[in-house]
Amino acid sequence: MKVFLIGAAGGVGRRLAAALIVHGDSATGMIRSPEQCESIAQSGATPIAGDLIEDSIDELAAKLAGHDAVVFTAGAHGTGRDFTTLIDGKGVEKAATAAARAGVSQFVLVSAFAYSERDKGFGDGFEHYIRVKRGAEIYLTRTDLNWIIVRPGHLLDGAGDGLISAGLALREKDIRRENLAGFIVEALHNRDLNRTIVEVTDGQTPIAQAVAEVARSVGPRR
Ligand SMILES: NC(=O)c1ccc[n+]([C@@H]2O[C@H](COP(=O)([O-])OP(=O)(O)OC[C@H]3O[C@@H](n4cnc5c(N)ncnc54)[C@H](OP(=O)(O)O)[C@@H]3O)[C@@H](O)[C@H]2O)c1
Repeated sequence: MKVFLIGAAGGVGRRLAAALIVHGDSATGMIRSPEQCESIAQSGATPIAGDLIEDSIDELAAKLAGHDAVVFTAGAHGTGRDFTTLIDGKGVEKAATAAARAGVSQFVLVSAFAYSERDKGFGDGFEHYIRVKRGAEIYLTRTDLNWIIVRPGHLLDGAGDGLISAGLALREKDIRRENLAGFIVEALHNRDLNRTIVEVTDGQTPIAQAVAEVARSVGPRR
């Protein structure tokens, strides 16, 4: 499978690029700065320059053309409300429109638990982030794409152990980025997860089994 990663140089993106290559897929990683080329290439993925804010839909569609799937794991990462709106919100809309235009039907969005850490008093910026993430989910569910929305718990670095919990509704817990990357690789290859919102945390179930169990619980998809 030929996968296009938006947010390829990020914490999840880098690990996902490496996991896809190990799995035998090919990956193209969109990056904003030339210094990121080397780390993407080291994982075996192909770097391509691009920016969700600067690129037009047609420019993005031209980059996506010829791929089987898009994974959107970009984020403004605390750079302010406006960038959150432009990247986590409008960026998803732009990428989904470009994917449809390029004929790339499969689209995985890394979102967040809707209830995520709301009780911790993170303030207006965090509330805005959660609202924008929710808006992006709503937008994607109204497209004709074969979307999968993945809601991970709080992300941690550190080696993954390949054990997760995955389901349509979970209590929020942390997840290591490497485990999340493993989940996304497996989910990309299971058509029965199409048009499903899945919550995922670190847990006790091997990733392949966890994905198969979610797929069974939602039934066959197109
Ligand atoms: N942190 C958490 O606990 C948590 C929990 C749930 C969900 N999430 C979500 O998980 C996703 C991945 O998280 P992460 O830790 O991998 O984030 P990250 O390390 O901050 O990576 C985000 C990536 O998005 C890229 N990006 C930002 N603006 C862009 C633009 N205009 N065009 C193209 N790419 C752009 C960044 O590029 P540069 O490298 O050039 O800056 C970066 O590589 C995010 O969507 C985040 O909201 C995070």
